[in-house]
Amino acid sequence: MAVIKIRNTNELIEGHENVFKFLEKQGVLYEHWDILKLDESLREKFILNDEEKGQILSTFKDEIEDLAARRGYKTWDIVALSDATPNLDELLKKFEQVHIHTEDEVRAITAGHGIFIIKGDEQTGYFDVELEAGDVISVPEGNPHFFTLMDDRQVVAVRLFIETEGWVAHPYQETEEVTK
Ligand SMILES: [Fe+2]
Repeated sequence: MAVIKIRNTNELIEGHENVFKFLEKQGVLYEHWDILKLDESLREKFILNDEEKGQILSTFKDEIEDLAARRGYKTWDIVALSDATPNLDELLKKFEQVHIHTEDEVRAITAGHGIFIIKGDEQTGYFDVELEAGDVISVPEGNPHFFTLMDDRQVVAVRLFIETEGWVAHPYQETEEVTK
């Protein structure tokens, strides 16, 4: 289950209901998929061939189609990152800059971990959402955020798009530097 860390106050929010309520108030979609549906061999595998990616997508076909029907996503794919990814450090440097998109950014984690750092309302400020396998999140369109990996430096996620161009990152200039 996801854990929230509010940067200004160091407050921790844990437990599905608390996390769900907090994120709902911030306009961030949060759902959960049953990761036990996924074949055990794919729950800790971070180098995936096309067949294995297809297997993940077909395991969660119903969940993906349900999400797509509710929210208008038209295409989806799998992204896998780990120390086996060429230039992982360079990629992470790029990911770790505050940016916005012209559509919401949806990720369903199927293995490993990831963190979205999201700009909340004025009172809340930036908060970290630490995600594990089964967590599904959508950062709203136009909402400043960035993504990074956790200490295990590995993640597999399903990405869903309305238009693939919608995922282009537009830099967002914050008054103070926001870093990992
Ligand atoms: Fe993004």
